[in-house]
Amino acid sequence: METLRLKGIPVRDAVFSELKNRMKTAPRRPGLAVLLVGDDAASAVYVSHKEKGCDEVGFHHVTHRLPATTSQDDVLALIDELNNDEAIDGILVQLPLPKGMDQDKVLLSVSPEKDVDGFHPVNLGRLVAGNPGFVPCTPKGILRMLSHYGISMSGKSVAVVGRSVIVGRPLSLLLSLKSEEGNATVTMCHSGTRDLAAVTKAADVVVAAIGVPRMIGPEGVGEGAVVVDVGINRIDAPERKSGTRLVGDVDFEALVGHASAMTPVPGGVGPMTIAMLLENTWEAMCRAENFDGGV
Ligand code: GUN
Repeated sequence: METLRLKGIPVRDAVFSELKNRMKTAPRRPGLAVLLVGDDAASAVYVSHKEKGCDEVGFHHVTHRLPATTSQDDVLALIDELNNDEAIDGILVQLPLPKGMDQDKVLLSVSPEKDVDGFHPVNLGRLVAGNPGFVPCTPKGILRMLSHYGISMSGKSVAVVGRSVIVGRPLSLLLSLKSEEGNATVTMCHSGTRDLAAVTKAADVVVAAIGVPRMIGPEGVGEGAVVVDVGINRIDAPERKSGTRLVGDVDFEALVGHASAMTPVPGGVGPMTIAMLLENTWEAMCRAENFDGGV
């Protein structure tokens, strides 16, 4: 079987060019503030991609890089300042926060109207209720990508592996909503799922968001299924000059010829997350300005 590669970069580029187009009529530049606390190497790379994305579409952006020793009160004070800054439409607190910081309390302090990550309980609640709000970027990006490639979720059985607040839980909700991109029958699997491989193998679509390198192979994927890999894991690769390489939660090579379509890592879901962050920031500006920006 031919396995279609679901590449994220062309879809991201289409979103960027749509945003650049919309910018021509914008009342002002949307503004994104990013908080990066501590020295997590992967987070530093993700933040630099977000900055580059803002530059590419012409958004205003500021990044606050704070040492891991910053007190929680100082982080909360900065967020309060950004909540009241009219040039800032979106606030993103890069996760994970350093140990000892209360992540829930920090995320709760972001104004729901500037919560472009969609992690505030108000926005998560809106998602549960099926009301408009900010939708977390990775789940939103996955649905956009599937729709771009003409893969409908309606009536399909989808196994989502992983129940994180960032991906698994919001994605399960979105897929199950009665909507054009959703309307699927969803099974949310996790570390407590009995006979995981049998559950995922029975599904039309498997989404892996676990954070375990190459955990899902042909034994857990039905012939002809669609596979979405959300994992970004750095593993040792002595054959490479850098000594490491990125792999997903899915054993990509073993599934070529077995799955009907599959997202690669890197270059699959990752670029979509940034595209959706910028789209959410655009949406926040439109709401703040009461501007019909076509979202
Ligand atoms: N860390 C890993 N993924 C994400 C994300 O989508 N948003 C934020 N803020 N932090 C992350």
